[in-house]
Amino acid sequence: MNTAFVQKAREIAVEIGKRNDFLVVGNYDADGISSTGIMCTALNRLGKKFSTKILKQLYEEEIEKIAGTAQNYIFIDFGSGQLGLLKKIVKENFFVIDHHQPEKEEWPFHLNPLLFGVDGGSEISAAGTAYMVARELGDNRDLSALAVVGALGDMQEQSTGLSGHNREILEEGIGKGVLSKKNDLKLYGRISRPLVQFLQFSSNPIIPGLTANEKACSEFILGTGVDLKEGETWRNYESLSPEEKKRLATALILHMNKNNVPDWKIQAMFGEVYTLEKESRQSPLRDAKEFGTVMNACGRWGHSDIALSLCLGDRAEAYHVALGLLAEHRKQLREGIELMKERGVEEYKNFYFFDAGDRIKDSIIGIVAGMLYGSGAISENKPIIALTHNPDGSVKASGRATGELVRRGLNLGKAFKELQARWGEGTEGGGHAVAAGVKFPAEKKQEFLKELGEILGKQVS
Ligand code: C5P
Repeated sequence: MNTAFVQKAREIAVEIGKRNDFLVVGNYDADGISSTGIMCTALNRLGKKFSTKILKQLYEEEIEKIAGTAQNYIFIDFGSGQLGLLKKIVKENFFVIDHHQPEKEEWPFHLNPLLFGVDGGSEISAAGTAYMVARELGDNRDLSALAVVGALGDMQEQSTGLSGHNREILEEGIGKGVLSKKNDLKLYGRISRPLVQFLQFSSNPIIPGLTANEKACSEFILGTGVDLKEGETWRNYESLSPEEKKRLATALILHMNKNNVPDWKIQAMFGEVYTLEKESRQSPLRDAKEFGTVMNACGRWGHSDIALSLCLGDRAEAYHVALGLLAEHRKQLREGIELMKERGVEEYKNFYFFDAGDRIKDSIIGIVAGMLYGSGAISENKPIIALTHNPDGSVKASGRATGELVRRGLNLGKAFKELQARWGEGTEGGGHAVAAGVKFPAEKKQEFLKELGEILGKQVS
């Protein structure tokens, strides 16, 4: 790990150790809630007094509401882009633990991998950064499992799996017995979906003839000699014997080949998967990726308290509520994708664009946009920008890109920050190179399309 980064995490931990009475303010996505869970568990183990608040975004009006309500504040998974506002409004006694593009502001209690040349988009997430502090606060290496959940929730895995600091955190978790890794079929839902739905709902990649075709999926699986049920229970992929898994995987490869799916897409279906060893065998929380989706399902639908309870270990009431929210979340994502496909995506010179009107909530518009790449509706040569209209007259745009576009210079977070700098009051944007968001007044839509096109064009030229 980067020595200066570790040293800074230690300094922050020492300072936190000296204080008491914290308000931990975290972002409402999977990474933000994992990091909040890590920090709260560490504080709890030290016997510190704390409360929590989960927010969609650290907008100025939110900071104003928070200021003066606690003795100390820890902002997690946002704050680096709002240091100026925090200094102006909260003034003192606050810590920022984040991995988003930082503002050029000095603050002594600011931990961000980007300040140490560590890539906060692919090598470590907010959860990993919070874990760096937690491991200095006590014997907290078991929390590495949540750090991995956060990293996957922020889509930090590369084609070879987790890398950089994320990989070292993973190894610490394996050493502690809370995590394991293996190479396997990576399709989403290996634990939470019955076999037929496992194939039927595969959107990344689309499996020709099988995706969205229940009957074909069931025939396909039975054709490989794999039973769909064990007694009365539908089997999931994880419950298959190694031999059955191999038969199903081979049949899938042959099927994709026969349907002219490019080799790289077939290879991308396989890779490292990460298991939380302490979770029960049938639980979606056992798969690190699915744990992240469960948290998004809670956090992005206004139930971040449930997601946080999961991170703090509740496997009773919160767990059951979370499973219900997960089913609803998936339904909304499916409907969002259907809407985008039905209405069609507009193609501009430097990006794809979709205006969802008020049909998709601002909290999931970015996820839906990202899923479009896997669905085959757009190609991977440009980023996708999706827009949704809020009841207050503002619009929220979410952008998603591919790793390849970022390697060519694209940075959506910077592009949206630039719009914020140009337009001033009423526009707030930021995020990562691959995934970012911006809120602005609806009447600026045409200017947005024009100016964003120019900014993105310059980035990749
Ligand atoms: O909302 P969405 O999922 O599109 O956000 C993508 C990323 O951009 C998230 O990491 C989010 O925290 C960040 N973001 C930001 N400032 C905004 C909106 C989003 O930093 N105004």
